[in-house]
Amino acid sequence: MPEITISNECSEWALALDPKYKYIFIKGGRMSGKSHEIASYLTERSITELNLKVVCLREIQKSIKHSSKQIIEQKIKDGGLAQYYKSVDSEIRKLHPKDDGLFLFQGMNDLTADNVKSLEGFKVSWFEEAQNISRKSLKTLKPTIMRIDGAQMIFTWNPKFPDDPIEEFCNEMRGEDDVLVIHVNYDENAFLGEGIINEIERDKRKFPDDFEHIYLGQYDTSFHGHYYAKLLDEAAADGRISKVQRKTGVDIITAWDLGRADSTCIWVAQVIGKEVRIIDYIGESFKDLDYFADWIKQNNYNGLIGLPHDAAHKRLGMKGSIEDQLKQMGLTNTRVLPAYSVDAGRRLAKTLIKEAWFDKEKTKDGITALRHERAEKDEKTGKWKEIHEQDGAAAFRYLAHYLDKKAPAQRSVSFRIEPQGSYMGL
Ligand SMILES: Nc1ncnc2c1ncn2[C@@H]1O[C@H](COP(=O)(O)OP(=O)(O)O)[C@@H](O)[C@H]1O
Ligand SMILES: [Mg+2]
Repeated sequence: MPEITISNECSEWALALDPKYKYIFIKGGRMSGKSHEIASYLTERSITELNLKVVCLREIQKSIKHSSKQIIEQKIKDGGLAQYYKSVDSEIRKLHPKDDGLFLFQGMNDLTADNVKSLEGFKVSWFEEAQNISRKSLKTLKPTIMRIDGAQMIFTWNPKFPDDPIEEFCNEMRGEDDVLVIHVNYDENAFLGEGIINEIERDKRKFPDDFEHIYLGQYDTSFHGHYYAKLLDEAAADGRISKVQRKTGVDIITAWDLGRADSTCIWVAQVIGKEVRIIDYIGESFKDLDYFADWIKQNNYNGLIGLPHDAAHKRLGMKGSIEDQLKQMGLTNTRVLPAYSVDAGRRLAKTLIKEAWFDKEKTKDGITALRHERAEKDEKTGKWKEIHEQDGAAAFRYLAHYLDKKAPAQRSVSFRIEPQGSYMGL
């Protein structure tokens, strides 16, 4: 059998990457070589270790195009190893009949808590863009991967907010012998040409406010396009994100957003005089209605149930509307909110964040969702455009609406233009 020696060039910081670490955290600014170095390291491990299964994960993977597959393929090709691998859909498999090694590319959004178990047997996981990882993903993934001897979890990310789940996890783990934490920036990337460095230096002069976050991997304090992040920082500075007690004898209000693959999210609040106390939050996907009804009952939150406008719709093949089903489960005090414009809802949500108190522990996941809620700038038109709403943010808009009785509702009219140009009501 011919012996193959591969020797890849890498940046100096990447020499530290080693299978002896159980956890590898690589964070930092854009263009520091995080993705490339991890892809090289994993390709080296894959070719030299028998039966090595590697899963490359993201929180949301809209399609295989949005995965790390391309970069791994590139490393395989650059290393002259293409003849040893075969690419099939969301996998790259080793071709040797006695070697079960493979790379799998998977979004957490496509996995239920049950089929996360399908990742058992993957010795190495690489979570890319880990600033987006949810607490739930971390919680389910860790025991699944770590059940194998010698397992390794790798996370790469550009830091966003200090209370993001990945930051908390990294801070809990750092300092242990089998944990590697590296903060790296573009100035430690051995592969950047002068052209790119000049471009980065120009960004530094022109957009100094963004520079520290984008290229030096500091937290994002500019909040471009983020609807609520700054207000949440102010709420925290005011001391309004703290331990918030439930007050006995005061009505409970819950506001729901309903989904299936998208989470169903519920905010729980009380109004005491003029003070709004937000005391709990739940957001879970792939769960049936009874799960949430049970949660409400177990916590004794069965007060006023605020539902989005489509909860009253009867759908084909369903046992009555969502509202009907909840009533059958004993959640009888329902109120279906009229349809509102998202913009009006966001204005009310902002006002609510400026005034409300949040229980720091129990509403943690909801606050993370609110923080990440944002619009995105279209590079071509320069205009801000909507992106998929964070689960949890819609439910918060509904809560804000419910609490504001004067909120503008939305009236929809439909019309049709006849070929002659006259308008016809429908
Ligand atoms: N090991 C490497 N081999 C070849 N090119 C690299 C390597 N590391 C970094 N680069 C170069 O640096 C650029 C930025 O690296 P990338 O991994 O995309 O950074 P990050 O993920 O930190 O934003 C890449 O486009 C690539 O040109
Ligand atoms: Mg990257």
